[in-house]
Amino acid sequence: MRGQSNAFAFTEETLRALRADAPGCESVIHFNNAGCGMIPRPALRAMIEHLELEAAIGGYEAAAARADRVRDFYAAIAELIGCAPRNVAFAASATHAYSKALSAIPFEPGDVILTTRNDFVSNQIAFLSLRRRHGVRIVHAPDHPDGTGVDVAAMAGLMRSLRPRLVAATHVPTNSGLVQPVAEIGRHCRELDLLYLVDACQSAGQYPIDVDEIGCDLLTATCRKFLRGPRASGFLYVSDRVLGEGYEPLFIDMYGARWVGPGRYAPAETAARFEEWEFPYATLIGSAQAVRYALRVGLEPVSRRTPALAARLRERLAAVPGVRVLDRGRELAALVTFDVEGWQAQPFKQAMDARGVNSALSFREFAVYDFADKDVEWALRLSPHYYNTEQEVDEVAEAVAELAEQVRV
Ligand SMILES: Cc1ncc(COP(=O)(O)O)c(C=O)c1O
Repeated sequence: MRGQSNAFAFTEETLRALRADAPGCESVIHFNNAGCGMIPRPALRAMIEHLELEAAIGGYEAAAARADRVRDFYAAIAELIGCAPRNVAFAASATHAYSKALSAIPFEPGDVILTTRNDFVSNQIAFLSLRRRHGVRIVHAPDHPDGTGVDVAAMAGLMRSLRPRLVAATHVPTNSGLVQPVAEIGRHCRELDLLYLVDACQSAGQYPIDVDEIGCDLLTATCRKFLRGPRASGFLYVSDRVLGEGYEPLFIDMYGARWVGPGRYAPAETAARFEEWEFPYATLIGSAQAVRYALRVGLEPVSRRTPALAARLRERLAAVPGVRVLDRGRELAALVTFDVEGWQAQPFKQAMDARGVNSALSFREFAVYDFADKDVEWALRLSPHYYNTEQEVDEVAEAVAELAEQVRV
């Protein structure tokens, strides 16, 4: 196909323009988008401009002067996930958003948190901490016997028998390319009227997300990964139902609530209830620009191109002697995980760094269930994004093949 970038959704011209907006593309092969995506130029410029304005007229004054850009953070996220701006709270990270959400649930001893074996490590630790402090019961739904993620029918059975206080699922875990069927889980939650929290940290910016379709009450994500926003920026979606039922974070401040009398406070009507008074305004503005950029590129084409690049990489790696590709699932996202016979984790990552390839390591303690099931001690994670090229995929696979070969001779 002339002018087309193979079956990978974007024309060569589009791809060139997108790469020109990603300053680092020419000097490094950035396959660590599941760690942190490369910030696009418009977002970078907006942040720098705001910091310069703060230096020129004062921090509070700059926030007031750019109130429209700040408001756009909420409007952009709302457009991204299919809700109203009032349902969006800024958070410093996905973990910050997640712990705010958990803190709003008045757990009692014996309450059940029903989750999966592939929920994010920090979420699992938070559940354990709630068990230690409040005596909740943590139940992990079994995986499907064919190794394709959680067994939704079994999970629904546990919902019916245990009536969990909270159902929690991670859309795409950090430790593999698995895409969990969060909307199927959500349908059961809605049917049974159960509170449902979704971690969309790795899927936001990689797939279209619609909170109504997922059927969740709460959803968390960062802006820095596939959304390509700045670091230390994320968000929490809070449904009208949750707001209406009066859920509020354990520690609520003078922004999340008004002190209306000596013994009383009134929580904000909107998801602002989950925010605090102080904001990193340049970061909010940069995140809004990054989300607008993602919306312009289009989540639908991104969701075709990005996993397709990963699929090509998996295919190339699977053919390399000594490499074990670890991702299992009906549908796989752009997180490619594998280990290499004869190599230790750090030296292998360093060898990839030396070849100009950005990657990330995962260890057993990042995925206690999944890595035990797969008998994995460490894995290298490569996560391309839409602005990467097929040529880069092939170069990276070639680099892995050379390294794997080194220890075999
Ligand atoms: C699935 C998932 N959830 C949550 C997080 C935590 O995000 P943050 O570092 O923004 O707290 C990550 C980070 O890698 C993740 O992969």
